[in-house]
Parts: sequence; C-alpha cells; structure tokens
Amino acid sequence: MTAVLIDCDPGIDDALALALAVASPELDVRAVTCVAGNRPVDITAANARRLLDLFGRPDIPVHAGGARPLLYPEPRTNLVHGEDGLGGVVVGRHARPIAADHAADVLAHLLLSPRGADLTVVAMGPLTNLALAEIRHPGLLARARAIHVMGGAAHCPGNVTPTAEFNFWADPAAAHVVMTAGARLEVFPLDVTSQAAMTPAWLAALAAQSTRSAQALAAMLAVYGEQDPLLHDACPVAALLRPRLFSGGTGLLEVDWRPGSDEGRSHFHAGGEINAVLHTGLDADGLLSLMAERLARLP
Ligand code: BDR
Ligand code: CA
Repeated sequence: MTAVLIDCDPGIDDALALALAVASPELDVRAVTCVAGNRPVDITAANARRLLDLFGRPDIPVHAGGARPLLYPEPRTNLVHGEDGLGGVVVGRHARPIAADHAADVLAHLLLSPRGADLTVVAMGPLTNLALAEIRHPGLLARARAIHVMGGAAHCPGNVTPTAEFNFWADPAAAHVVMTAGARLEVFPLDVTSQAAMTPAWLAALAAQSTRSAQALAAMLAVYGEQDPLLHDACPVAALLRPRLFSGGTGLLEVDWRPGSDEGRSHFHAGGEINAVLHTGLDADGLLSLMAERLARLP
C-alpha cells in the first residue's frame, strides 16, 4: 500500500479525486489537508470532512491550513464549483470536527517521522500548505517518496488568465517554493488534465448508480460550471494506481511568481536541468474506466 497525504480544496473535481483515492485499496490515505482555493479554507475543509464521511471514511482526519496565498492578504477563490464549492449539493452534515493541527504541521510531522520517506503527497489545490511546511523545515519536501501536483499549463493556454492555470495562479509564490524544493515532483498540468473529460455516457452511467456516493457526485457534476467537466484532480491520484495511463518527460518547470499579468504562468524546458516529470499525454478511456470501477465500490 502506498501511504498518501492529500492536500486539496474541494471543489467538485477534488471530490471525485478523493472518491478515487479512498475507493482504492492500493492507497493508505493518512490525512487530508485543506487549503483556500476554489473556496475559502473553512469551506474546503468542511467539504472534505463531509465527503469523507459520505464515502464511508470518517476515520481519515481532515486538517485546515493556508487561508490566503503567501503574497496576498485575501484568498484567490472562484465560483466554478458554486458558493459552497460542491455545486449546492447537500452531502450531509459533517459529524466529526475538523482536526486541530494546521495542515502544514501535519505534513511536516508525517514527512519527518521515521516512515516519512514512504509518504507520497498529492496536491490538488494552491500549494500554500506545502510551501509553508517547506519554509518552516527547509528540505522537507525532498523527503517525500513523490509529490504529485495538479497545476500549471505548460504548452497550452491557462484557465483563469490567458497564461495561468488556477492552482498556480491562486498562490504563485507557493508554486515557486514547491518547484524549487528539490523534491521528486510529478506535475499534471492542464495539458494533460484537459484531456480528462467526463463523457455524457460516463456521466449517465454514474447517475444510474444507486449508491449515495454516486448520487451525490452525479448531482454535483450536473451543476459543475464547466461545459465538458474535467477530471483535473483525479489525474495525480490515478497516476499512483495506473502510471501507464500517463506519459510525459522530465525537464525544468518554472513558475512566474512575481505580481503582474503573467503571474502563475508556467514554463517548461526539456533537455537541461530537471526538477519534475511533466505529464502531457493521457489514455482518457483508461482513466474513465478506472474511475467507474473504483467509484462503484463506494457506499
Ligand atoms: C484546478 O483548479 C480547480 O478549480 C480545480 O479543482 C483544479 O484543482 C484546475 O485548474
Ligand atoms: Ca482542486
């Protein structure tokens, strides 16, 4: 089993990624940490708590973390996933409280523990929590077995500005800290996640399932603010389960972190210095099959 910490900002595609992770026996989800992103952090943490309860995993602790980006006083949020971040779908009250420790402290604690080198971090939101932990403990992220990041747009337009993808734009300085941390990074930018579209047939099959998890996810997807809903955040989870669904190459991924019109933009240079594997290719049918098979296991 692969030990993982999931850092996220649910978010409807985060919800699908959490569902994939907890439905997969290959993964031991040790903690879920939350960050301000799609919505403010109090909302994303409450959503993560409710989702894990819905998916039958009230045992997994949820911790709240960064409430704002490193360089700005207010979070950079969006309304793509609705006011509540889950498309207005009621997924039950969160029975258990949000755990007390700050997300960055939990990440540091797990990575500094004797088995820290076994931990894989999956980051599906702005990288504030990872950066805070790295700043507090220099060298920390390099201890992880791997860090899978959904973020960036290497050779394609952005989805929040003409050049920037949302997670990198929402905290560009944090993305820079993570990209320069010397960690084993695997990055899943829009180049690959924009191929991960849920087809009408796939959505209809999900909606036809009678489980409470499938019904809630289908209801969220029915109001998702995207035309062809994309499984952005499921990609870095799926790569832990089926690495051959993805293809890419190594190189240097840099982020424009200084305030200005290009902030959050990513640049990828192959053939020289290496800080990351950048995934650009996807077997989209394989991903949809994996998702369907795993979501069917949830209560
Ligand atoms: C990313 O932005 C968020 O809206 C999604 O949850 C995903 O993590 C895609 O750019
Ligand atoms: Ca997300």
